[in-house]
Amino acid sequence: MNCMSEWLKVSGMMMGAFLWVGSTSVALAETDPPLPEGPHRAVVEETCTPCHSAAIILQNRMSRKRWDETITWMQEQQGLEKLTPTVRNQILDYLEAVRGMASPAGKPSPETHRMYEYDYPPNPL
Ligand code: HEC
Repeated sequence: MNCMSEWLKVSGMMMGAFLWVGSTSVALAETDPPLPEGPHRAVVEETCTPCHSAAIILQNRMSRKRWDETITWMQEQQGLEKLTPTVRNQILDYLEAVRGMASPAGKPSPETHRMYEYDYPPNPL
């Protein structure tokens, strides 16, 4: 019984840590860096920054394919409107140039991982 309550305590703490990590990434939305120069920057600003700041986008670095999947995720789960193929390609051109795998800035982000799998620090417990 004692053992069980220890377990509940630990899992409660883990849940707390998870929620805490979740809220720090949302807090980033309050710092509002400008989008760096790049192709079709204005299109990206108009399409991608009404809901969250550029920081949410810029903290990621991934391949064009992963960016494409991220846009689909925005559309299916977060309410991003439907985009014409031209606009979608323009946004992908920008993201690939500014935060693609060959882009100069950014942190390591394995091509094989989606950003929400690698973007969180290890559980501190
Ligand atoms: C209609 C609102 C909306 C629009 C428009 C939108 N997003 Fe998002 N986006 C969200 C929400 C809400 C989240 C947080 C989702 C979560 O973490 O569960 C998010 C999260 C993200 C993330 C993950 C951030 C991280 O590192 O955890 C990325 C990357 C992203 N958006 C990119 C984009 C791009 C690129 C566009 C433009 C093509 C875009 N978003 C347009 C609502 C939107």
